[in-house]
Amino acid sequence: MTKAPLLACRDVVRTFAVRRGLFGRKRSLLAVDGVTLSVERGQVLALVGESGSGKTTLARMLLGLVPPSAGTILFDGEPLDAVDRRVLTRRVQPVFQDPYSSLNPRRTVARIVAFPLEIHGIGTADERRRRVADLLDMVGLPARVTHSHPHQLSGGQRQRVAIARALAINPDLLICDEPTSALDISVQAQILNLLQSLRADLGLTYVLISHDLAVVDHMADRVAVMYLGRIVEEGPAERVLRAPRHPYTRALLASELTPDPTLGLPDPGLSGEFPDPLDPPAGCRFHPRCPMASDVCRREPPAVRTDGDGRAECHFAA
Ligand SMILES: Nc1ncnc2c1ncn2[C@@H]1O[C@H](COP(=O)(O)OP(=O)(O)OP(=O)(O)O)[C@@H](O)[C@H]1O
Ligand SMILES: [Mg+2]
Repeated sequence: MTKAPLLACRDVVRTFAVRRGLFGRKRSLLAVDGVTLSVERGQVLALVGESGSGKTTLARMLLGLVPPSAGTILFDGEPLDAVDRRVLTRRVQPVFQDPYSSLNPRRTVARIVAFPLEIHGIGTADERRRRVADLLDMVGLPARVTHSHPHQLSGGQRQRVAIARALAINPDLLICDEPTSALDISVQAQILNLLQSLRADLGLTYVLISHDLAVVDHMADRVAVMYLGRIVEEGPAERVLRAPRHPYTRALLASELTPDPTLGLPDPGLSGEFPDPLDPPAGCRFHPRCPMASDVCRREPPAVRTDGDGRAECHFAA
């Protein structure tokens, strides 16, 4: 085992060419704009931020599904694009929001969970059957669902199947993109507790994307707050959630206190609209919505201020 973090991003950028309207000219949209991050083995790093801040785009780059436009991603100390594709899919697995769309409706649970083993040529048919039984047990599914199809299962059960499939080939890292937000509130906690115990039992590392700061509070060791493609604050979860330094983090936390938790999106506490990513504000990107904004914020992008184990990108971060 090396000393390098399991995952490290340096100045990672991703742009998309988009056209506004049928005849508009193509423009470049900066979905991820210079992200630097690292995730240590066994840690849970939560990625939070409003819709459109670039979380999924970053996750897709970490999975090797989308190449960065610039910057480097190191997996276990090695540039991601130099890691063999098969090795990468063995070691890094996704868990998506909607298990229904990621599970083949025509396959049985047994085949879905065994599929990665087949692809990677692991075990005999008999060994795979035993492994599937173990995996179903591990994720808390009864043996009777083995021959069921996804539509015969509940949402929570489907997400358990997706997790079992992700674990089939013993990955090191799970990239979970809103893994519980499509589920009933009552089921969400069960799935989060499952992820928590799997992490402890199997020594897994997670990148966890969530809108829900209660989820983040429950799961994360570190929290990275994204706004318009940039990490505006990052640090130990305890600190980011209890003593936030960036006004955006504070606004997110305040909006989370609104009475309707089913709303999902933080909104009421944040005044002003999320900016147009094709036309980002000059200076500090958060300035049009920031209660602390002054001239310098409108003029100059803030530098990163580190303090102990955390950092924030704000002219006024304490
Ligand atoms: N394939 C694509 N082509 C063009 N633009 C894209 C593409 N994928 C993402 N974007 C844009 O990049 C920005 C970031 O999107 P992304 O999906 O990463 O955000 P997100 O933080 O995951 O949002 P959400 O919370 O809604 O899932 C958005 O402005 C989005 O419209
Ligand atoms: Mg997303």
